[in-house]
Amino acid sequence: MPIKRIIPVSSGKGGVGKTTFAVNFALALSRHGRTILVDLDTGTSAIRNAIDVPIEKDLYHFFRRNEPLSDCLTTLDDRLDPERRYRNFAFVAGPLHLIEEITNFGAAHKHRLIEAINSLDADYIVLDMKAGLDSNVIDFLPFSNSGILIFTPHLPSATLAASDIVKAILFRKLRLLFTRESPFFDTVPSGLDFWRLSNELIDRVEDVYDASVPNLDVFAVDLASNLGADHPITKAVQNTVDFFRVHYVLNLFNGVEDSFTTAVKPFIDNLTHHVSSRVAITNLGWVTRSEAIHRANCDRIPALLLRRDGGKKKNRVAEELEDLRMMALGLEPMKRKPLRETTNPTDPGDHLARQLDVLKTMFAQKKDDDSYANFDYIAQRALFTMDTRRPSEFGDIRIWEPKEMLGALFAKSSR
Ligand SMILES: Nc1ncnc2c1ncn2[C@@H]1O[C@H](COP(=O)(O)OP(=O)(O)O)[C@@H](O)[C@H]1O
Ligand SMILES: [Mg+2]
Repeated sequence: MPIKRIIPVSSGKGGVGKTTFAVNFALALSRHGRTILVDLDTGTSAIRNAIDVPIEKDLYHFFRRNEPLSDCLTTLDDRLDPERRYRNFAFVAGPLHLIEEITNFGAAHKHRLIEAINSLDADYIVLDMKAGLDSNVIDFLPFSNSGILIFTPHLPSATLAASDIVKAILFRKLRLLFTRESPFFDTVPSGLDFWRLSNELIDRVEDVYDASVPNLDVFAVDLASNLGADHPITKAVQNTVDFFRVHYVLNLFNGVEDSFTTAVKPFIDNLTHHVSSRVAITNLGWVTRSEAIHRANCDRIPALLLRRDGGKKKNRVAEELEDLRMMALGLEPMKRKPLRETTNPTDPGDHLARQLDVLKTMFAQKKDDDSYANFDYIAQRALFTMDTRRPSEFGDIRIWEPKEMLGALFAKSSR
């Protein structure tokens, strides 16, 4: 089976345009490879409401009738896609009505669905996640990056929720590292006591009301001074933050100034203060507020399907070079100082300057793009990232079960 990429789209809060983005992003990706969009916001059936095609089988058939997930796919019909431009696109719809065990599936259901998604045959799988931060969301997310986070200007609670997703992923991984079953347990000299203290420390970092250990960078420095900088646990924790990548998309974009002050800056401030200032942050692009998008949603036709010209054809070399530069904008890895030399671990300075810079450059080049072009640009940048970076930096090649991830992590760090 070819190597595929699973990309979750999440927001923490509803109403920010997650489904709108996931649907159109998946359509844009499908021009480059077989793409399956999976509705994991199973309580709202959002995707089946966004795409007006007859649906024969959905998650109900998978869960209740034990049908293979690959038999529960829906493709577009001739009415929505007369030129078959999106023939590589398919989706898995949520059930028609709210079915408790499908909306809040327990461990066994979750395990079965994860296995099934992992064995779907596609190049790209896009997951439209539920809002909120319970284990039915977190357990579908990668361990080493955020997937795509969506937030919008002027909605502080959604911005906060987006940075809380990053926090939840990182803490999930750390807690895994410090479980009693962790293979790392045998690498610490004093065994149980050190373990108990570390877990208490993690609790204190996670507790935003406890200011004594503000974030993971402080925790990592602390570990280094207790265990030594080269200890496998120290390294595993430092790598967990240093190699973590955040990718975000601004929906309802309304210009550089406003988007930066009311969305990007609060996002980064919260992230650096309460989580880590060392994670790499990438703006994948924006989607403008557009009446056409909203109308398309109301008509249950994904906006991208309404574009009939198929996008502008470009053939001039200079333009292509410019495109390549814009594609790679802000994606180069960040240079970090060794953790021990970090003086103020909650200083967002570098991130802010960099994000503002990227936003300004993008705006100078892309301000006249319509919303169709917005989705294309984001898809291009996602594809570029997948081509040029390790799979664990953006989405992942599979949804990892915790045990599996822990084993892989230990094997890597004890090398
Ligand atoms: N870029 C946009 N321009 C205009 N309206 C939008 C845009 N994105 C989303 N909307 C509207 O916002 C509402 C919420 O969008 P939706 O994608 O359902 O959000 P979520 O999945 O996060 O709950 C919908 O009415 C949708 O039409
Ligand atoms: Mg939705």
